[in-house]
Amino acid sequence: MNLLDNIAQLVTCRPGGRQDEIHPIADAALVWDGPTLLWVGPRADLPGAYAGATRFDAGGGLVIPGLVDCHTHLAFGGWRAEEFEQRLLGRSYLEIAAAGGGIARTMRLTRAATDEELAARATGFLREMLSLGVTAVECKSGYGLDREHELRLLRLYRRLAAAQPVRLVSTFLGAHVLPPEFRDDRAGYLALLIDDLLPLIGRERLASFCDVFVERSAFTVDEARGLFAAARRAGLRAKLHADQLSAGGGAELAAEVGAASADHLECASDAGIAAMARAGVVAVSLPLASLYLDQTPAPVRRWLAAGAAVAVATDFNPGSAPSYHLPFALTLACTLQRMTPAEALKGATIIAARAVGLEQSVGSLEPGKAADFAVIDAPDVTHWLYHLRANACRASVIAGTVCWSARGFRLSR
Ligand code: NIG
Ligand code: FE
Repeated sequence: MNLLDNIAQLVTCRPGGRQDEIHPIADAALVWDGPTLLWVGPRADLPGAYAGATRFDAGGGLVIPGLVDCHTHLAFGGWRAEEFEQRLLGRSYLEIAAAGGGIARTMRLTRAATDEELAARATGFLREMLSLGVTAVECKSGYGLDREHELRLLRLYRRLAAAQPVRLVSTFLGAHVLPPEFRDDRAGYLALLIDDLLPLIGRERLASFCDVFVERSAFTVDEARGLFAAARRAGLRAKLHADQLSAGGGAELAAEVGAASADHLECASDAGIAAMARAGVVAVSLPLASLYLDQTPAPVRRWLAAGAAVAVATDFNPGSAPSYHLPFALTLACTLQRMTPAEALKGATIIAARAVGLEQSVGSLEPGKAADFAVIDAPDVTHWLYHLRANACRASVIAGTVCWSARGFRLSR
């Protein structure tokens, strides 16, 4: 049995309630046994039964549930830094894509990369995410865009899930864009996804979710509806890249099919957001993508007023969001979207966990849940996201095991 104390503030981030209710506890203590939390509360209320536990010292810092990044495109070949520069010089994301850059470029680089290269890169990304306090990550395929390479990416995620400590949830994004081989055969590509890949992915349990990029330059609402029906038959829940560059009915479709989440939503209609709120679909805000594409950030205050649960994630990918710095995304959610630090944190813990189907096991610090937490060198949540200092995270713990700690800091007696 283990006891962590000397905690200036601990936030439990329990489910339910308003987005800003994170249930802070001052001068807190946390007890866990093996992979599971046993007790959380004010140090002064610690039951005598835990007095003999092995004691660890949080150094007077902040303790949060391990962060959940509920939207990443984790594995890909190459980078696209020159597109970043081209956009700064005035070319648009869609112009660059139409000229053979964008997702198609990363597809070519991903297909050309070896399994070992992809695995080593993704492992490195995950290690750095862990050092920011991120303990669970959703990872999408979508840069293979053919049978062989989509399956290769999902199998790579399965291998990584077993080989490194961060919890991974896989999402099949075969419907990212139409691959060049099928430029004149949309029906052929959709048939490959619906009749071949989705049933196979379901049988082999290679992914928990099926995502579709619903956009003029990608797939229509009707095409997505067909894909989600096939996904459901295969046991995969729906997720959407919705209304990112234009309003296209993605939010409405997310509500209709009972998706776990709809993500981006910069251009979503108020009616679509209201329908999502009624249907319990998590609205995922990706402020790094808005920042990098110089788009007006999504109106998160309106979503909250409509009763939606809002998650915040990075969208880590080589094009629209080449950063996996989730705490920075939270600070952007505050400054660009007027979320409070508490609202943003709840959006990257329990609400993000809901967006990836992990809300029963992670995302909040409650007895019976996994002992996944991070120790942050800050007096409270607001100070952490305000200062956003380098190396703020002192330790990341997954299933009761210290998986990463800052140099010079030991979660020790
Ligand atoms: O989430 N919107 C589509 N997909 C990614 C971008 C992928 C890329 O540019 O490589 C996104 O922003
Ligand atoms: Fe994305």
